[in-house]
Amino acid sequence: MMETRAVLLANEAMTKDIYKLKLHVPEIAAGVQGGQFVHLQVPGFSLRRPFTVADADEETITLIIRRQGKGTSALEQLNPGSELALLGPLGNGFTPFPGPGLLLGGGIGTAALTLFARRLGECTLVMGGKQAADLWLNQLPLPIGVALEFATEDGSKGFAGNLVQYAKKSLKPGMWVAACGPMPMLTGLQDLLLQRKIPGQFALEERMACGLGACRGCTCTTTKGNALVCKDGPVFAAEEVVFS
Ligand SMILES: Cc1cc2nc3c(=O)[nH]c(=O)nc-3n(C[C@H](O)[C@H](O)[C@H](O)COP(=O)(O)OP(=O)(O)OC[C@H]3O[C@@H](n4cnc5c(N)ncnc54)[C@H](O)[C@@H]3O)c2cc1C
Ligand code: FES
Repeated sequence: MMETRAVLLANEAMTKDIYKLKLHVPEIAAGVQGGQFVHLQVPGFSLRRPFTVADADEETITLIIRRQGKGTSALEQLNPGSELALLGPLGNGFTPFPGPGLLLGGGIGTAALTLFARRLGECTLVMGGKQAADLWLNQLPLPIGVALEFATEDGSKGFAGNLVQYAKKSLKPGMWVAACGPMPMLTGLQDLLLQRKIPGQFALEERMACGLGACRGCTCTTTKGNALVCKDGPVFAAEEVVFS
């Protein structure tokens, strides 16, 4: 982990509320694993914001960001050439299990899985959303071995239904799961994985202040006791997460 500065190379809209930042920051790009995040200083704001590294090459990282509040609205306005302070790479990453992997991303949670999918080379990566217009995954170049699938609640693209329903249909013995998304999705998936004895990992989100394990502001509950999402996670074994 290091504190450094990045230069913004590109800032592009992907959907009506999702945009992509490409940052030149070789020190972080070189060592980042799929599922790890950076803690980015938004100019004019004192608290840094956490974002997963959605893609990386030798010198650059890509963040995929959903406009949420003041910080993410300010980032969306930045022009190429802007300099940003950041910490990273932070947290742990996903670890593959043997056998075919099914990666399930609910909405912006998909950004936590894309670098992992790239590094795996062979897997199925499914993005779920309410409707086709919310889906941005096909705008990110991924290796041919990564099979892209989609699920929409209104049936306008891909499987008609949510990702828990998709997983019920698609999970076969011998497979494993990596997932990130809203709490109801992860809760439903956890039940399914436990019923079918399928191993999995979940990337969690919590509000963060320090991002370094010092403030204890990002505590979550696991079967082993309290854990810090920034330091012990954000990736946890699926069966260990205790949802409140
Ligand atoms: C490990 C991790 C990875 C993440 N990766 C992504 C990503 O790849 N893409 C993406 O769009 N979003 C991601 N998020 C969520 C993102 O950090 C928040 O959407 C963002 O901080 C909101 O900032 P804001 O100023 O626009 O919102 P505001 O609501 O104005 O924020 C106010 C404060 O609350 C904090 N906050 C609000 N929502 C969250 C949240 N969900 N998680 C943590 N802090 C929050 C902000 O950091 C800020 O300090 C991630 C969160 C975590 C914990
Ligand atoms: S954000 Fe401070 S301990 Fe996790």
